[in-house]
Amino acid sequence: MKHWHGWISLIVLAGVAGLTGCKPSGGSDADNPIKIGEYASLSGKEANFGISSHEGTLLAIESLNNAGGVLGRKFQLITEDDLSKAGEPATVVNKLVSKDNVVAVLGEVASSRSLEAAPICQQNQIPMISPSSTNPKVTETGDYIFRVCFIDPFQGTVMANFSYNTLKARKVAVFTDVKSDYSKGLAKYFKESFVKLGGQITAELDFNGGDKDFKAQLTAIKASNPDAVFVPGYYTDVALICIQAKQLGINVPLTGGDGWEGEDLVKIGQDAVEGNYFSTHYAPDVATTNSQKFVADYQKRFNGKTPDAMAALGYDSAMILADAIKRAGTTDGPKVRTALAATKNFDGVTGITTINEQRDATKPAVILQVTKGKFKYLETVNP
Ligand code: PHE
Repeated sequence: MKHWHGWISLIVLAGVAGLTGCKPSGGSDADNPIKIGEYASLSGKEANFGISSHEGTLLAIESLNNAGGVLGRKFQLITEDDLSKAGEPATVVNKLVSKDNVVAVLGEVASSRSLEAAPICQQNQIPMISPSSTNPKVTETGDYIFRVCFIDPFQGTVMANFSYNTLKARKVAVFTDVKSDYSKGLAKYFKESFVKLGGQITAELDFNGGDKDFKAQLTAIKASNPDAVFVPGYYTDVALICIQAKQLGINVPLTGGDGWEGEDLVKIGQDAVEGNYFSTHYAPDVATTNSQKFVADYQKRFNGKTPDAMAALGYDSAMILADAIKRAGTTDGPKVRTALAATKNFDGVTGITTINEQRDATKPAVILQVTKGKFKYLETVNP
């Protein structure tokens, strides 16, 4: 955590001219950066989420600052690590809002963590944009809470259709992380859609994120003889589930949602995750002009690393916030909130974003397959 803090402060100061040495004391606007808070899982169980999302966000802030910022002011990104741990998001977002006086907050990836911090932003009239939390409850917190991605009723339908129509599965078992709002929601929406299509749920089993032994539940899943197993979990748990499913002789496809996306899925799961499928928000190989430029800039900035959905949505979340501040003509919370709510046809790297009445975005999903240790793009599903 220390390491990240040091590194981030360096980047931020490099991007803001005239800030080193002394605090701005009513000087010119150039010395008075617009403070943006970010909370992310930079370490811990879902570090892949937080690091990617942060890198995308940072790239956006740097490119905005290189272009002069907005309202004649540059941005200062203040990033806090929530350690992938319940309890931390509230602590760090309280600090961002009360001590750092940020004008807006970006984060989180995981729905349960966004749900924990959103009430703090709402109460303080500080707009919060989650780049990639997909549980509907996140933006239901209140009118200051936004997201720039699709929600899980859509994602559940996408994977139900894929299972039924493409995999030709008629009987599916569902394995849910009951510690995660995301997992519980996505499991529910998947089941509803799959049953509506005429499919049957053969077994419903639970785990707790962070568990290491899934064999008892997987044995029950195997006995129910499904055509596929839907696992709406996060990559660290999913990798272990795939390994143990294979050991138990479960030879049908395992499928899931965006939570599968993380480079460690393959690092941990190796051969056991090969051939499996998941839905997410973005595929770097879908070559729109914006996306191609983003992939090139990101690779240049981050040692050749290819951006994933969290990075792309992190980037768009910062760009959409900057656009709203510019249109608002001020950093005043209620006015930025109103401008964010009016976001229409914003042309970003993840496609076109329009914020709807529920403060969500309606966007396509992509389906990827783990192939030779990489995430291979299969198809795009429009809303
Ligand atoms: N949608 C997930 C959630 O709400 C988070 C996530 C987004 C994970 C994008 C990976 C990629 O918890």
